[in-house]
Amino acid sequence: MAIAQTTTIFFSAIAIMLFSSSIVAHTSGDVDGKPKAADFVTEACKNATANYDKEIHLTEKFCVSTLRSDKRSEKAKDLRDLALIGVDILKARVIAANGKVQKMLHKAKTGTSMARRLTFCKLDYDVTVSITNVCTALLKDFRGPNGGDNDGPASFMLPQCVEQANTLNGYCGHELMDLPGLQALFNENLDMSMLAHLNMALLEPYRDDDS
Ligand SMILES: *[C@@H]1O[C@H](CO)[C@@H](O)[C@H](O)[C@H]1NC(C)=O
Repeated sequence: MAIAQTTTIFFSAIAIMLFSSSIVAHTSGDVDGKPKAADFVTEACKNATANYDKEIHLTEKFCVSTLRSDKRSEKAKDLRDLALIGVDILKARVIAANGKVQKMLHKAKTGTSMARRLTFCKLDYDVTVSITNVCTALLKDFRGPNGGDNDGPASFMLPQCVEQANTLNGYCGHELMDLPGLQALFNENLDMSMLAHLNMALLEPYRDDDS
């Protein structure tokens, strides 16, 4: 009984807090006519997904939920900041998948097609992780169009770099396609490929930004 009462009070308190904070949010939202910081992610995702290759089915919802899963997205000022987050998330996923692949490799019999395919995937994932490291360094060194005034990387190198990280994943995907035991890994690969596309979509405006 006491617990039930406490719980009720607790939830009422939450309800009141949510209610009042939504009033505050509502009244403070448009004061200076600028969108709130949190809306930057939504707007960037709307832009990035609107004109992206329709065959990929990259959605605004996936973009927003992926980027918001990292607290840094609240402070992101530009697309490069968001891409840094996206590349980190991709890298973490590839490292995790690579761990699974290596476990499966230990169990697979040498000389079987299973072992060969897994070896290709391990190779792919090792390289993909290296590429994400290169992309992170490029993104951090970026100082503006034409390399900025301080010998930074050219804009087009940013989308080009994250594109490389996807090509390799696709190669591993083909190796996995028709082996029933590798279905989970195949699906994992599709997810990771979507993350790579997200990074490509976010950085698309940098492609022609060297004028
Ligand atoms: C979205 O696209 C519009 C129109 O091109 C542009 O003005 C705006 O700055 C873009 N927003 C973001 C967050 O990239």
